Amino acid sequence: MKKPSVLVARAIFPQTLAYLSEHFEVESNQADEVWSPLELTRRLHGKVGVLTTGSDRIDSALLQANPQLKIVANMAVGFNNFDLPAITAAGVVASNTPDVLTESTADFGFALLMATARRVTESEHYLRAGKWTKWSYDMFAGAEVHGSTLGIIGMGRIGQGVARRGALGFGMKVVYHNRSQLSPQLEAECKAQYVSKEELLKTADHVVLVVPYSAETHHTIGAQELGLMKPTATLINIARGGIVDDAALAKALAAGQIAAAGLDVFEGEPTLNPELLKVPNVVLTPHIASATTSTRLAMAQLAAENLVSYLTQGRALTPLNTVPTDR
Ligand code: 8YV
Repeated sequence: MKKPSVLVARAIFPQTLAYLSEHFEVESNQADEVWSPLELTRRLHGKVGVLTTGSDRIDSALLQANPQLKIVANMAVGFNNFDLPAITAAGVVASNTPDVLTESTADFGFALLMATARRVTESEHYLRAGKWTKWSYDMFAGAEVHGSTLGIIGMGRIGQGVARRGALGFGMKVVYHNRSQLSPQLEAECKAQYVSKEELLKTADHVVLVVPYSAETHHTIGAQELGLMKPTATLINIARGGIVDDAALAKALAAGQIAAAGLDVFEGEPTLNPELLKVPNVVLTPHIASATTSTRLAMAQLAAENLVSYLTQGRALTPLNTVPTDR
């Protein structure tokens, strides 16, 4: 019997492709070309499943052109590349990769916080440029991390991981803002106190953004919010481009309205607002918060297992929606 066909939209670990090939005819993209929406739509013809990454948009036009599609499995915990209502209306299952990236991403959030507060990349650029000729008392003096106040906006699994690192590892006072307040037990575990967004922005020494992207969270931080922050504060974005108004942030950094920012995600990435490249007090990384080899492998495997489990047993492991099973 002919195996069902699936598409893997971007380059992926060979062992993940080998695993998928045990169950399916697999069309892959090991050349890692970035396909246009039309090209992705065309490649999906005849496929019942697709393994996507955060840059592959799944919307109603693509779904209408591919009525045979049964599951879209994202290799990411965020799924703002999915039009989830359209996917559900089309009777297609959507899945993501929660949990497997929580700790690595929280590690990176902390790495970015520390690099930003302690001016790690800015001082390295200075050294590499041959400008280091003598020690001086205030050279690259940054902000204290231990014992300071950590403000977390978005207190899901990754936010809680950042909170634990701050409270238990660095003796920080942790305040958070979230759509809903955590249970008293989780608050105690994270040693975190719920506050309004305004209070958080006014009191935190380091603000970390870990909120999922949606129309409601678009520009969670803009000119007005930056104006509430301390001039000594740092802002860290490991959430999604669009959570921060990057143009407003570049202006605030240039004006010294806040001390520094650490950004792993950008509006319109991989293109950056050019103003961000002109300011020295920003640490910039190319969307790598989950990028350890073992975590990326776990994400790829979980996305692949969602395809296998749903297409062979009718049950996705980490679904984002429910659809009638007789499709
Ligand atoms: C991914 C991410 O690397 O999981 C997420 O939501 O942002 C990252 O871990 C990226 O989206 C690739 O799919």
